[in-house]
Amino acid sequence: MSIRCEQSPDEVSRVVRCWQRGGGSVGLVPTMGALHEGHLSLVRASVAECERTVVSIFLNPTQFSPGEDLERYPRRLEEDCRVLGEAGADLVFCPAEQTMYPPGFCTYVVQEGLPERLCGAFRPGHFRGVLTVVMKLFQVAPAQRAYFGRKDFQQSVLIRRMAEDLNVPVEVRVMPTVREKDGLAMSSRNEYLTAEQRRQAVCLYEALAAARRLFRKGERSSERLLGKMREVVAGFPAARAQYVEIVDPDTLQPVRQVGEDSVGALAVCLGEVRLIDNMPFGECPDIFLGRDS
Ligand code: PAJ
Repeated sequence: MSIRCEQSPDEVSRVVRCWQRGGGSVGLVPTMGALHEGHLSLVRASVAECERTVVSIFLNPTQFSPGEDLERYPRRLEEDCRVLGEAGADLVFCPAEQTMYPPGFCTYVVQEGLPERLCGAFRPGHFRGVLTVVMKLFQVAPAQRAYFGRKDFQQSVLIRRMAEDLNVPVEVRVMPTVREKDGLAMSSRNEYLTAEQRRQAVCLYEALAAARRLFRKGERSSERLLGKMREVVAGFPAARAQYVEIVDPDTLQPVRQVGEDSVGALAVCLGEVRLIDNMPFGECPDIFLGRDS
């Protein structure tokens, strides 16, 4: 089954509006390609909840800083389109860079406060690029629902906030993190890991899970829960923690007293590879590939 792949924003807008005139709901799944089960879980959610599903594949240069991995980021459009067809998506929007950012482009979405927290503190300009491209995608494909992964927790919070602040008529759906059997959150960047780094990459999940176990036993002090997370990461010699935090899920500010809705979040570097992960202390519906429960 081959899926329609469209480069033109005008054509995608036309198709989406045509579907909506027919009364069908439309779901949008923004991605940068190199699709894995994490992405596909979003596509399947959209296919289940909406009549039509548009997936965008665009390696967005404005969210990468100079020196980051834009050049070596995996690209495999043909394979991506094949799996999207199998997953039941209806249309792939894969614009060229010059189409999204033509000469003279100078309008960006800049949020205050939230982008300075967590990852934003280490990736200046990153969320400006993310919010700008997501806003453009919302304009091109004005879907009723848009699907994002909880794995990129800060990104999902900022996008929800942007949609609300700028009156974008879209329901932002944030879906559970899909993990490998040992707990590592799936990510296109996992492909960069050497075999040894891959073994040690489980430290992010282990740190979050250990803190969560302590919380369940009654520990509520963020200082002690953070101490546990740092201790776990320190037990993996290849891993260097960039940040380890426990934050409020809306403001992203650190909390002192940890509650069910507080979120543990961390970024860890293994060699050149930077990985992130997060987990709420209360109910957590993460999906583990290849595990029975
Ligand atoms: P990308 O990293 O390709 O991710 C696309 C979507 O898949 C994001 O919403 C991300 O949170 C989700 N995702 C990635 N890994 C996941 C996992 N293991 N479980 C569940 N969801 C997962 O995030 C981006 O692209 C870009 O910043 C984008 C929003 C497309 C803007 O350019």
